[in-house]
Amino acid sequence: METELLTTTRAFRRRLDLTRPVERQELLDCLDIAVHAPSGTNRQPWRFLVLTDPSVKQAVAEYYRKGFAANLSGRTPRPDQLRDLDSGRYLAEHLPEVPALVLVCVPGRPPESPVRLASFYGSVYPMVWNLLLALHSRGLGATLTTAHLAFEREVAGLLGIPFDEVTQVALLPVAHLRPGAPAPGPRIAAAEVTRWNRWDGA
Ligand SMILES: Cc1cc2nc3c(=O)[nH]c(=O)nc-3n(C[C@H](O)[C@H](O)[C@H](O)COP(=O)(O)O)c2cc1C
Repeated sequence: METELLTTTRAFRRRLDLTRPVERQELLDCLDIAVHAPSGTNRQPWRFLVLTDPSVKQAVAEYYRKGFAANLSGRTPRPDQLRDLDSGRYLAEHLPEVPALVLVCVPGRPPESPVRLASFYGSVYPMVWNLLLALHSRGLGATLTTAHLAFEREVAGLLGIPFDEVTQVALLPVAHLRPGAPAPGPRIAAAEVTRWNRWDGA
């Protein structure tokens, strides 16, 4: 069961039910599970801003769409990326219709030191993954997105986030999942990307 949840928690986009609201309490219940994730010195740096107001979602979605398009421009996707890109476009188009957009933030700005930078982001991403798992285990789903961060400052201004004091890390569009059989995503076998003892070893 755990293995199935771990391997089938996908980037849910087309399966998001855009017609069914997400109750505050069911989202809070999933967040309460997610925050059991580890963080450096257990400082639990995550902060959540949940967007449900249609006009607010619309305004953030405009920046998301621009960020998504900028990310794609000038790139030739590999054939195996086309399906993911297509569903990415679908999400970009329908973002304002997703019932709840969870904006994950961290106090402070990203530090320069590699060690501190690893701890800065590494202290929030395990929680994000926990949240994706918790949602999926309860019939909800989301996609981890970062496209709007190209306009982080503008979105901060829009939402009243003090940019110099708070960093936006990810935006998770959350909805109930429409029926569908969960299947594991395409992944390279671990053995192909694993070396033993020395990087340049035999
Ligand atoms: C750091 C990070 C940033 C991502 N940003 C976006 C994004 O901005 N928009 C989007 O649609 N998906 C985004 N994704 C989702 C990935 O495209 C997705 O996790 C990956 O293709 C695997 O999808 P699958 O689990 O359904 O196979 C992001 C994922 C990660 C880990």
